Amino acid sequence: MEIKNRYVQVYLFLWIMGMCMYAHPLKCQSVIPAPLKMERGTGSFPLSGGVRLYTGFAEEDAALLRNSLKALPVHWKQARKNGGRNIVSIEPAEGDPSLSSSESYTLSVSPERIKIRAASGAGAFYAVQTLLQLAQPLPEGGYAVPSVEIEDAPCFAYRGFMLDVSRHFFTKEFVKKQIDALAFYKINRLHLHLTDAAGWRIEIKKYPLLTERAAWRTEANWKKWWNGDRRYARFDDPGAYGGFYTQQDIREIVEYARRHHVTVIPEIEMPGHSEEVLAVYPQLSCAGKPYKNADFCVGNEETFTFLEDVLKEVMELFPSEYIHVGGDEAGKAAWRTCPKCSRRMEEEHLSHVDELQSYLIRRIEKFLHANGRKLLGWDEILEGGPAPRSTVMSWRGEKGGLEAVRAGHDAVMTPGAYCYFDSYQDAPYSQPEAIGGYLPLKKVYAYRPVPDGLPAGQAQRIRGVQANLWTEYIATPEHAEYMIYPRILALSEVAWSAPENRAWEDFHKRVPKAVAHLKSKGYHPFDPAGEVGSRPESGEAVDHLALGKKVTYHAPYSTAYPAQGESALTDGIRGDWTYGDGAWQGFISRHGLDVTVDLGKETEVRSISADFMQVAGAEVFLPEEVSVSISSDGSVFVPLHVQRDETDKEKAIGFRTVGWEGTAKGRYVRYTARPGKKYGGWVFTDEIVIK
Ligand code: ACM
Repeated sequence: MEIKNRYVQVYLFLWIMGMCMYAHPLKCQSVIPAPLKMERGTGSFPLSGGVRLYTGFAEEDAALLRNSLKALPVHWKQARKNGGRNIVSIEPAEGDPSLSSSESYTLSVSPERIKIRAASGAGAFYAVQTLLQLAQPLPEGGYAVPSVEIEDAPCFAYRGFMLDVSRHFFTKEFVKKQIDALAFYKINRLHLHLTDAAGWRIEIKKYPLLTERAAWRTEANWKKWWNGDRRYARFDDPGAYGGFYTQQDIREIVEYARRHHVTVIPEIEMPGHSEEVLAVYPQLSCAGKPYKNADFCVGNEETFTFLEDVLKEVMELFPSEYIHVGGDEAGKAAWRTCPKCSRRMEEEHLSHVDELQSYLIRRIEKFLHANGRKLLGWDEILEGGPAPRSTVMSWRGEKGGLEAVRAGHDAVMTPGAYCYFDSYQDAPYSQPEAIGGYLPLKKVYAYRPVPDGLPAGQAQRIRGVQANLWTEYIATPEHAEYMIYPRILALSEVAWSAPENRAWEDFHKRVPKAVAHLKSKGYHPFDPAGEVGSRPESGEAVDHLALGKKVTYHAPYSTAYPAQGESALTDGIRGDWTYGDGAWQGFISRHGLDVTVDLGKETEVRSISADFMQVAGAEVFLPEEVSVSISSDGSVFVPLHVQRDETDKEKAIGFRTVGWEGTAKGRYVRYTARPGKKYGGWVFTDEIVIK
């Protein structure tokens, strides 16, 4: 009687479930990053009550998978045997030719069972992350996974995120929290920028001053500190700002990451960006005194003793294949007059001080290689010729990465225009202060790490792609998360999903759910629902009297920011929120902008204007003096407008239209916009609009 009743109950339950599903058919929930192949079936697998879980993986991997699955409100019953109904099985499938890489997997969901096959623990882990994204709550309570057949594999093996913990320190708890989310979206490298002028962040037993002093500064606010005296403090000085990871903290982070199939790559900066080291170990600088240099003295053997000692401890802590040695933006000035550096150049037959950089990088590469590691560095490591076996991280555009792969080296792409998450992600006026730039979600998504037409042999050497969060302007965990999410989701799809499976409109529809999920887990993402978007003027070409007319430059534009060259100011194309977008033309002399537009014939004119931009951090300022005048013969000009505005250096970002309105006649229009005498800097404009 009892049994019969239970059958009736089960039958009724299934019938009701079936009706509910009919009434609320489960959509195949959005998965980020988009899998290689995904086909929706019919029905769904209920995740209510107890579900049997079988894992054929060895205990360590099995435990990680069980741990991931705990995110679902299911009572998992460990099954010793595979088979039967109402089971989730996770099976190793090493050597299966259909699983193309070690991170690939198949996931098959039917109303009876969920079956995962993967070539490795990492593949199985990713299958489970996909499963977690597919599971969805039912209106009547409980969860279900819609029937689906997925075959998935990553496009790139290196899918990275860099966190700058020097400019502001972030706790190990924060780092672990980010690892949770990164792994959920199949990012598998966490690059920690551990050392820089703003603070040294890793305990090195042999050099205690690095964490007693170089990890602490006198001012928490990076901008104030950088624009001020840039002094360091002792850890116990009142008001000292900073922090560091103990070696035990690092072990914890590395192990936590490993259990999420994330490799942590440490970066130790050399030879530049090392003010903090040279403040506490001044004998390693050319000056021999603190607060003088940013670059290590390459002529001094002690420099190499120090760097190798540090790297030995670093290698003990980080099992990563790569050790990142920075290499970017060395100033090199002190090397020119340093007797030790001169001696080194003589001994090593170096003809130029720049070669001291490649001397150091090559020597460190040899050391890392002898210890079974590979050198990774910013694209400056190409200068003077890349060290053998080194991998280049291309940040100043893609040029360095492409040069590296042409020369037979590996590269990781992280060009500033697409991958620098410290840029504004929306209209600057709507955002907390950032370093500048404009990198909305859509632009991250548009990135393609392998340019069209690159020969296959070179394309293969592009190991992957990475987003970087520099934290000069990012002091809190909430702000950091705001800058990371959801842009890292776009990057995850750039890195994982096949180019043919990527479509912005489709991704954009999947983002709101992911943002809601992140919020529910305690993250602080930017919400694209409230996005302001591009500068309105940049949307379509502006029509005006000067369109296509000749411009004579009385002071040249900068070749670094030419936009469309001599046609830029009359091409109708307006810039977006960043001067670096190829539509803004830049001027870097005391003359600023000084041009004459030839309208071709005597013309009646009612308004003349130009827009300017300020990004104080990049020394781009609104002009201090603007003048507009008109002429019929090109030699006698009638002034129409003069405007003076004092430079407000504290204004982080700003836009201003400056011009004249009235009635005038003439053929030639002269427009000048000068920078202030006190601060100088750049003047940027995108168009001289004449109506
Ligand atoms: C860098 O942004 N200096 C790598």
